[in-house]
Amino acid sequence: MNDRSAAQKGIAFSKNILKMKGSSTLKAAQLATRLREEGRDVIDLTVGEPDFDTPQFIKDFALEGLQKGITKYTPTAGLRLFRESVIDYYSKVFGAALAEGEIAASCGGKQALFNAVNTLVDEGEDVLVPKPYWVTFPEIVNFVGANNVFIDTEETDFILTADQVRDAITPKTKLLIVNSPNNPTGRVIPAAEMRKIIETCAERGVYVLTDECYLLFVYPPGEVFTSAVLPEELRRYVCVAGSFSKTFAMTGWRIGYTIAGEEWTKQMLKLQSHSASHPTSFVQYACARALQDPARMSDAVGTMLAEYERRRDYLIPELQKIGGFKTAMPEGAFYAFVDVRELLGDKYQRSADLVDALLNSKYVATTDGEGFGADGFIRISYATSMENLERAVEKIARFIDQ
Ligand SMILES: Cc1ncc(COP(=O)(O)O)c(C=O)c1O
Repeated sequence: MNDRSAAQKGIAFSKNILKMKGSSTLKAAQLATRLREEGRDVIDLTVGEPDFDTPQFIKDFALEGLQKGITKYTPTAGLRLFRESVIDYYSKVFGAALAEGEIAASCGGKQALFNAVNTLVDEGEDVLVPKPYWVTFPEIVNFVGANNVFIDTEETDFILTADQVRDAITPKTKLLIVNSPNNPTGRVIPAAEMRKIIETCAERGVYVLTDECYLLFVYPPGEVFTSAVLPEELRRYVCVAGSFSKTFAMTGWRIGYTIAGEEWTKQMLKLQSHSASHPTSFVQYACARALQDPARMSDAVGTMLAEYERRRDYLIPELQKIGGFKTAMPEGAFYAFVDVRELLGDKYQRSADLVDALLNSKYVATTDGEGFGADGFIRISYATSMENLERAVEKIARFIDQ
């Protein structure tokens, strides 16, 4: 029901929910699905999820969990096995030293983010959100009645810097939300800069929510940075939102976690205990068992990562050849973010018009940048087959030529 029909029916919804907009990325994907259902041969480049299936051994662990009867409520923070496995994995893979009270299982990265913002930020406070942003960030901030203060990162090629953060902080600033590797830009903040950003915030008493949902998706593989490795005095200000969705191709399983100080974690658990309680018990078990074998996890991710890298290396130079398309080589995630402002004018006033025309005339679905705070840009996901990318590139080039 939209806001107007709700008002006609006299339902007085809360101010906070009416301030929240629906997800624009889901809308684009739904439109592509509708056209496909109507029989059109749509090439869907809107997808924000891996086109790979979950690795078989993780599925086997889920079955094992079911057979063992791990089918009941778990603690709100997740099975102890889950929390211990996250700690061991972060220790072995990244050298982090985490305590059990700092880990909480959540229903995907989204719930982790929602818990973090809702427990920390009050109505009227300011939250720094680098632009372009992932669509959900400003909506969570709206939902709590706080103010989004956007930091435009175009000048620094979409890589947030500590200087930009320092300039944006005021006495009203409570939190910075930062996402690297980034959706929608694919850019990765270098480890040293990320550390400086967190230091800058911590020195001023500003908290940092680091969305590490695409953590391992960095090209070339190996150069990964997680804020979980920072020293205790910095980590006091940090909440890491982690997720199994993208890196382990598990979007439908709905599992993620937070890594935050014990006090912050307690508050997040209080909130979660009155909402979802915890992610599915045998899903937690499967993840825990899988994390116990980092080498196997790394092999599984490595295979997917090599394919994403191959697609990226094909796609970006091809897009760069298309007149009016400007895009840099992304270092992470699985998106190309393309500046199409040169193509805008009388015919297409906004990038959304271009996205619509491309979909309706060539059946190539892309995502408009406006939902990410970047009108004039489009996002192209390469979480799809090479064959689809080749066909899409040809169709886009023909569309632009026309
Ligand atoms: C930047 C970013 N953060 C968080 C999420 C949430 O993922 P999930 O809730 O599936 O873990 C997504 C999903 O698209 C994302 O792109």
